[in-house]
Amino acid sequence: MDFLSLCRNRYSARQLSPEPVPEEMVNRILEAGRLAPSAMNYQPVRILCIRSEEKMNLFRQTVHPCFGASMVLVVCADKEVACHSERVHHNLAEMDATIAATHMMLEATSLGLGCTWVCAFQYEGLRQSFPLPDSWEPYMILPIGYKDASCAPSPRHEQRNPISSMVTFL
Ligand SMILES: Cc1cc2nc3c(=O)[nH]c(=O)nc-3n(C[C@H](O)[C@H](O)[C@H](O)COP(=O)(O)O)c2cc1C
Repeated sequence: MDFLSLCRNRYSARQLSPEPVPEEMVNRILEAGRLAPSAMNYQPVRILCIRSEEKMNLFRQTVHPCFGASMVLVVCADKEVACHSERVHHNLAEMDATIAATHMMLEATSLGLGCTWVCAFQYEGLRQSFPLPDSWEPYMILPIGYKDASCAPSPRHEQRNPISSMVTFL
């Protein structure tokens, strides 16, 4: 599948199967994250890859139900490692995390898996149940799994504004 078709094919998959994702697929998804660019190549992205039944149960109870998925990636960045020079005005940790998460979401899609980008999770629940260093900021979670037979895009998926509303051609 070419890249644009992959982008068209992707949608937020919220009906996932509890069937485990094979390790080779997990490794490919993580490799896609590893290859993401980062500001100054400082590589501040830190990921919790949660797959064990025990930790997934804890995650579902205290952070997010994960749409039935058997695994979730918690995408963080270390704000002390990320580029935050005066020249760029703000800390670039979130941008670096966002690029890595996008790579991983698209690799999951290319493997035929379902994935949803989630920011509305229990932040304090995460901090308590899965202690992270203070300098690691968790920005988004990615529940990933095989799609259920019932899995389908939400109505919002088709609602894309035209190029003209996004781009100013000069
Ligand atoms: C930054 C960001 C935050 C999001 N947070 C959530 C979320 O907390 N829960 C959720 O179910 N979907 C979340 N989504 C998914 C969006 O709702 C979804 O991408 C959008 O409605 C378009 O649908 P599509 O992904 O199927 O094309 C988020 C997406 C992005 C990019």
